[in-house]
Amino acid sequence: MIDLNGIQLRNRLVTSSSLLGYGAPKGRFAITGLSPLVNFVDLRRFGAVTVRTVTEQPREGHFTLRESWGPTDLPEFFRLYRGALQEADGGWLNAFGWSNIGVERYFDEYFPRTSEQNRILSLGGFSADEFSSLVETVNRRAKPGELAAVEFNVSCHNVNFDFSAIIEEVLRRAVPASRFPVILKLSPDFDYLEHARLAEATGVAAISAINTVKGLRLDPATGAPLLKNRYGGLSGRAIKPIGLRVVSELREAGIKLPIIAGGGVRTFNDVREYGWAGADACSLGSEAWLKRIWSLPFAPLHALHIRRLIGQVEGWSPR
Ligand SMILES: Cc1cc2nc3c(=O)[nH]c(=O)nc-3n(C[C@H](O)[C@H](O)[C@H](O)COP(=O)(O)O)c2cc1C
Repeated sequence: MIDLNGIQLRNRLVTSSSLLGYGAPKGRFAITGLSPLVNFVDLRRFGAVTVRTVTEQPREGHFTLRESWGPTDLPEFFRLYRGALQEADGGWLNAFGWSNIGVERYFDEYFPRTSEQNRILSLGGFSADEFSSLVETVNRRAKPGELAAVEFNVSCHNVNFDFSAIIEEVLRRAVPASRFPVILKLSPDFDYLEHARLAEATGVAAISAINTVKGLRLDPATGAPLLKNRYGGLSGRAIKPIGLRVVSELREAGIKLPIIAGGGVRTFNDVREYGWAGADACSLGSEAWLKRIWSLPFAPLHALHIRRLIGQVEGWSPR
């Protein structure tokens, strides 16, 4: 076990919020909702699995909450999916807009089924009241040891909200109220040095950096935005240098909190690079889990790569 300021991780490789949905498929096999690669990777082997951001109430966001799709509905499913996620310039642009089933349904339907994983639960809200209420719900529904941490997502572009306006009150009220260590997730598009200082002053246990980078893609022929929300968050290989910059600048600014770093991580060398920049652990996101449809038959091979990566990180400590 690794102890990051009270956060217990099985090793230094966690998964990034949402890339593995709620940590388990709806049915027996993963087809939609989380990467089909998980059919070939034992999620219990990760340092922790970070669950998709959940809110107080269920939200459609810019996608849908519908869960069953027949063969004739597939064109509609893919239309919605393309409006929320597109491959773009060495990365992925997404705007699901916190499409999620809500915190209570997460605890009813997925929490009991993922009890053997080490879990981090991501929470999202638009006010200190919402975060305080989410923390109360988590305190009530999860026993000590059942979650490694909660992660506050106050850095997402896809919900078109200025989190800078609420972050201080959120941290001052909700962090001391949480029975579980709190991770603050930072965005390179907000004042992340200021937010990290606030985190240190308010008892946050660790920082997660970085969330996606705000981006835009347009249809070159018509000028129409590729995503339904117009803007989206860029993830994957394209943002790795930005993630490294943020981690390094946090350390240069004297931030001492442990950093769980992510942005474009795919290989063991990426993990080592983030370690040199100042990270204590790494998170595996788009590069590992988002694959083009045509490559799905190769899922067992991709999964082999992920299993090997976990093995390499198990024997690694930064710097
Ligand atoms: C499809 C998709 C959905 C995401 N949803 C969330 C989310 O619900 N909450 C969150 O904090 N981050 C979310 N993220 C951001 C990732 O957790 C991660 O911080 C980001 O993608 C950068 O890492 P990567 O380049 O390794 O993917 C999402 C990313 C993608 C690609």
